[in-house]
Amino acid sequence: MDKQASPDHPDATQVASIGTPINLILISLLALLIYLRLRPRTIPTAPAAPPPTVFRVFTPPELTEFDGTANKPIYFAVRGQVFDVSPGRNFYGPGGPYANFAGRDASRGLALGSFDESMLTEDLQGPLDPLKDLDEGQMEALKGWEERFLEKYLVVGKLVPVGSEEVKEKK
Ligand code: HEM
Repeated sequence: MDKQASPDHPDATQVASIGTPINLILISLLALLIYLRLRPRTIPTAPAAPPPTVFRVFTPPELTEFDGTANKPIYFAVRGQVFDVSPGRNFYGPGGPYANFAGRDASRGLALGSFDESMLTEDLQGPLDPLKDLDEGQMEALKGWEERFLEKYLVVGKLVPVGSEEVKEKK
């Protein structure tokens, strides 16, 4: 006597029908969905912040450290503002055409369009160059440079003479 298939006892053809191609696709999709849900995720990290720029007070001797010879940024001062001109290393770095300005108060040289040594403040311990003797044209030229640098470079500090109150405050 043949055994009759009943709902409680599925026959071999019913069991095999679970493995139809469409079911296999559905099972694969389900497995993929579960995997996508549960897979370990890489935690998104924020891009590294640029190094903080600290606005500081420089005296002329301190500024000379930043002339591009050591492994440090290159700074120069224009009308009391200290610019980080490191991106212009080709201009201001050692051997560059304007290396004379690196680490110094470049104001007078820029105003007069001269690279002469006498343009640079001689006594680094003394007062800052007051630039009082510049004529209108020279002052305009200097301000033109200043505007260009303000657009191009970061101001990282202020140039003050040795012994100024502002130097004492920072200590
Ligand atoms: C023969 C005369 C000169 C020539 C042919 C000349 C040529 C140049 C050239 C081609 C540049 C690059 C410009 C750029 O890519 O943005 C430059 C930049 C510069 N020049 Fe001259 N220059 C001369 C005289 C001077 C003088 C007399 C001064 C001031 C004393 C001066 C100060 C500068 C400075 C400071 C920069 C760089 C500006 C920056 O950082 O973007 N140049 N020069």
